[in-house]
Amino acid sequence: MDVLDMLERPRRNRKSPWVRNMARETSVGPEHFIYPLFIHGGSGRQAIASMPGCDRLCLDALVDEAGGALEDGVGAVVIFPALPDEFKTSGGEESYNPEGLVPQAIRRLKTAHPDLTVITDVALDPYSSDGHDGIVSSDGRILNDETVSVLCQQALSHAQAGADVISPSDMMDGRVGAIRETLDEDGFTDVSILAYTAKYASAYYGPFRDALDSAPRFGDKKTYQMDPANVREALREVDLDEAEGADMLMVKPAGPFLDVIRAVREHTALPVAAYQVSGEYAMLKAAAQNGWLDERAAVLESLIGIRRAGADVVLTYFARQAARWLREG
Ligand code: PBG
Repeated sequence: MDVLDMLERPRRNRKSPWVRNMARETSVGPEHFIYPLFIHGGSGRQAIASMPGCDRLCLDALVDEAGGALEDGVGAVVIFPALPDEFKTSGGEESYNPEGLVPQAIRRLKTAHPDLTVITDVALDPYSSDGHDGIVSSDGRILNDETVSVLCQQALSHAQAGADVISPSDMMDGRVGAIRETLDEDGFTDVSILAYTAKYASAYYGPFRDALDSAPRFGDKKTYQMDPANVREALREVDLDEAEGADMLMVKPAGPFLDVIRAVREHTALPVAAYQVSGEYAMLKAAAQNGWLDERAAVLESLIGIRRAGADVVLTYFARQAARWLREG
């Protein structure tokens, strides 16, 4: 008998769109997306040079963009404030101003779109004159416990304004438990915590720091964000965030850390989010703008890859665009 007669033929499961649909193991759709949006306190939209297609939005534009996203099937946004220098201090006091830009934005969003899930980032970098996520001591160390108490006030101000989900991105030790306790003491037992559990000290945050003018004014973030070489350490962070009461966990960045997403997925029963960060966005955009990649195909492939690695939800600047592409089919 000819050897080809006995051959297994996996290609039969790829022979037509219909058969491929039946054989497909992973899906991606707008229900899997969280849409990060940048805001500012002025008027209009401001372009971000290293993130073509993303703007800093005034609050009116924010309400419009979030409404458009909802119509496109994307029901969750996370907001990041760009503040002028005069709001930035070494103590990051503006971070918990109840009349600050983020609380105002939350109230506008929840009034206009009650069904939208509003997520807020908790960390000091947009408010810090040092450009760090925590409070810096006179000798240049990032002070953990002092920072955590400010983060608790920040989280509380977001909950009071109506945030659905608080998302600490600072990587201080013990902040998830402290924020949970603060929220519960004030009656915000229904406000969720999406913890940046495995957040790496990554070069891929560059465009985001351009967007917020939030780059560290000295040094780097390696004493609090994780070493990109590590995966076991991510599981240790998972155990701690779970024990401290996190509702959902995040891995960040996504594309260069797909193995970490998989390891976290297998280690926890909680929902896992992955953040396709600004640098991943910028790379895809730059290649597409040069005509070097087919943007639609490359973006959708990057998103299915993150889902296949084990992410339940993906934070991506492509959320709205990808939702539209997927609807067009
Ligand atoms: C701030 C924060 C950062 C990002 C999300 N929250 C930047 C940083 O840690 O320096 C990066 C997101 C992106 O690059 O898209 N704590």
